[in-house]
Amino acid sequence: MPKSGRRKHMEAVVLYPLDWLEERSGLVGGIKYFLFRKVPGDTGWAQTLGSATLTAFLVQAITGVILAMFYKPDPDHAYSSIQHITNDVTFGWLVRGMHRWGASVFIILLFFHMARVFLYGAYKYPRELNWIVGVFLLILGMFEGFTGYLLPYDQTAYWATVVGMNITGNGPFVGTVLAQIMQGGPAIGSDSLSRFYSLHMLVAPGAIFALIGLHLYLVVRLGVTSPPWSKEAAGTGPIGTQPSENGSRAGLTRAWRRSK
Ligand code: HEM
Repeated sequence: MPKSGRRKHMEAVVLYPLDWLEERSGLVGGIKYFLFRKVPGDTGWAQTLGSATLTAFLVQAITGVILAMFYKPDPDHAYSSIQHITNDVTFGWLVRGMHRWGASVFIILLFFHMARVFLYGAYKYPRELNWIVGVFLLILGMFEGFTGYLLPYDQTAYWATVVGMNITGNGPFVGTVLAQIMQGGPAIGSDSLSRFYSLHMLVAPGAIFALIGLHLYLVVRLGVTSPPWSKEAAGTGPIGTQPSENGSRAGLTRAWRRSK
């Protein structure tokens, strides 16, 4: 069916800025490649856990930015500012609830994603580096949870942090120094709160964002692993399902095996 003049006009309005950006940066092509790249035919729901973890992290980042607009990192005002967010700010209860519950969702999804990678053997050659990047993401994810726990500055927050700092301080080699740096003084107080806040909303999320970038670059570069029971990966699937036949990217593991 021929396109109407109005539709052509609308298309031009949408495509012009995209073409402009593509010509100057190649970004549109890059994003298109990322979203529409070929993956093995037997990729399943378990392989969406990484994206689910990413979504949970983005929700934390967005709700965290909103909370930071109202939160006051000072022992005299921290608790009351959280009460203010929950009781007075429009939808504050929702944003705070999403951030608090979302923290657990993020950690749970992180572990599910890691279990999937482990059970599929996706940490093996050539994806060892991505597993190592993942280990740093896991440590930073839990560090986010620990540093965020002090921020409401109520009894639970305070004493949980005392326990956490004692555990850190007893760690081998770097334990004592690490605990001193984080605590910022002989006892948990206003200096600790500022440090925890800075680590929680700047240092850790910044590092997580950077590592996620590297993680996803490696996922795209190396291709997604097929499940261990995959006939396609073993080369015994029905005709038309082999990577060479359906045009999907073989992935380095299979290319390497074939060359052996
Ligand atoms: C913020 C945390 C994380 C995010 C946002 C994230 C995101 C992702 C995404 C989107 C994928 C591709 C799709 C998928 O396989 O699900 C992936 C793959 C992968 N992830 Fe993660 N991940 C995180 C943490 C981890 C952790 C903790 C580990 C392990 C210690 C890990 C190891 C891997 C590996 C080895 C792959 C390649 C899997 C394959 O090729 O099938 N990731 N990740």
